[in-house]
Parts: sequence; structure tokens; C-alpha cells
Amino acid sequence: MTLTLADLHPVLGLRIAAGPLELRGITDDDLLGLCALARDGIHPPDQMPFYVPWTDAEPGALVRGTAAYHWSNRAEYSSSAWALELGVWYDGVLVGSQGLRTRRFLTTRTGETGSWLGRAHQGRGIGTRMRQAICAFAFDHLDAAEVTSGAFVDNPASLAVSRKVGYRDNGRQRLERRPGELAVNQQLVLTPGALVRGDPLEVEGLPAFRRLVGLDGADPLP
Ligand SMILES: CC(C)(COP(=O)(O)OP(=O)(O)OC[C@H]1O[C@@H](n2cnc3c(N)ncnc32)[C@H](O)[C@@H]1OP(=O)(O)O)[C@@H](O)C(=O)NCCC(=O)NCCS
Repeated sequence: MTLTLADLHPVLGLRIAAGPLELRGITDDDLLGLCALARDGIHPPDQMPFYVPWTDAEPGALVRGTAAYHWSNRAEYSSSAWALELGVWYDGVLVGSQGLRTRRFLTTRTGETGSWLGRAHQGRGIGTRMRQAICAFAFDHLDAAEVTSGAFVDNPASLAVSRKVGYRDNGRQRLERRPGELAVNQQLVLTPGALVRGDPLEVEGLPAFRRLVGLDGADPLP
């Protein structure tokens, strides 16, 4: 039998569609487009929405670092710590990325969402749709009990998306964002009954992904 890349890494066979939105595992070909989107800008240079200020890197380091992050994330998949990193397409156009990061998911049943869109694609409701899709996927298809998020208090778009999708505030943290720069981070939590749903999901490639992360008790990775 001929092997496919999805046999080697089942995330590459995962597809979640919701109306005009599609979330898919990121192939190396997709990575080229994703790195170009990141290089072309995610936020104004004087802002920093991310915990790790990876978008401060100069363009060459930024694209290589983005690719290296995705390659390393694939290589390090295990049932005890995995980050589902999906590309986001809207009307067939690659617009950004949506993640769900977990630790000890089989016990904790929780994961933290993280996402970004290229600047040209922001402010059109796509961020809300992709968050609704990943949360519905986590609850309905991965048996999550809650989903968390966190956003710096100077990131109104991310906080607005969280609130529209049904997350509630869950405390604040004082963090160092860039060297020497204090930033307050708002923590948020969403439970299944509070999710404000978007378009219904159509999911492909689920059984192999569930096996990869040790759900269904089959072949958990070490
Ligand atoms: C956060 C992000 C993914 C949201 O996606 P998006 O497509 O822009 O979001 P949406 O259009 O679905 O919704 C944005 C909401 O924020 C609101 N908003 C945006 N800027 C705002 C501001 N300055 N003040 C108040 N509300 C604001 C919008 O009005 C909208 O709410 P509404 O639909 O009720 O009007 C996107 O903006 C992004 O990639 N930002 C940079 C990276 C980032 O911040 N990632 C998240 C890290 S926690």
C-alpha cells in the first residue's frame, strides 16, 4: 500500500469546513503561503499580541522561524503534549492560522486557542468564525471539557472575538512581553454550553487524528 503524508502525520489529513471557512493541516506547500502572510504583516510594529514576540524578527528570520516552528511542532507530537496547528482558508484563500495547544489532554480535557490572520484579512468576521470552528471541533470531536484563551488587554480584537464566542473572564496575569515591557494578559475560559456556534462543521480525517493523540485508547505516542 502506498503511504501518504497523512499516514506519517495525521494532522495533514484533517479538514474542518464551516461555511466559507476551511481549517486544514499545513503542508510544506501551504507553509510557503503562510510564511509570506506572516512576513507581510500581522499587526503594526508598535503592537505585540503574542506571548513570544516572534513577529519582531527581521523578514528572513521571521519566515525561517515560522517554518521551523511548524516542522518542529509536527516532529514533537505526542499524546502528552500536542498543538493542533491548522491553516485557515476563507473562500479558498489562505488567510492565517488557528491553533489549539494542549498538555496532558487525556486527563485535563482542556486546550488553549491561539490564532492570527494576515492584516489584509482582519476585521471581516473571519477571526470569529475560525475560533467558533476550533472550539466546536474541540468540544464535539475531541471531547474537550473547556477551552481557554488569553489576550493582552491592549488587543481589543482578540478580546472581542473571545467574548462573542462565549468565553468568560478567568483572571489576569502580569507578564513580560518584550524585554523589560510589562503587559497585562486577560485569561478567558469557554465551556461547551456557553459556545456561541457558527456554521455547522464538516470534518474529515478525524479517526486518524484521534488515534494520534491517544483518544479512543489506541496507539498513544510515547
Ligand atoms: C485577533 C484576530 C485573529 C481577530 O480576527 P478578526 O477577523 O480581525 O476578528 P473579527 O472581525 O471576527 O472580530 C473582531 C472584533 O473586534 C472588534 N474590534 C476590533 N478592533 C477593535 C478596537 N480597537 N476596539 C474595540 N473593538 C475592536 C471588532 O469590532 C469585532 O467585533 P464586532 O464583530 O462585534 O464588531 C485578528 O485580528 C488578528 O489576527 N490579530 C493579530 C494577531 C492576534 O492578535 N492574534 C491573537 C493573539 S491573542
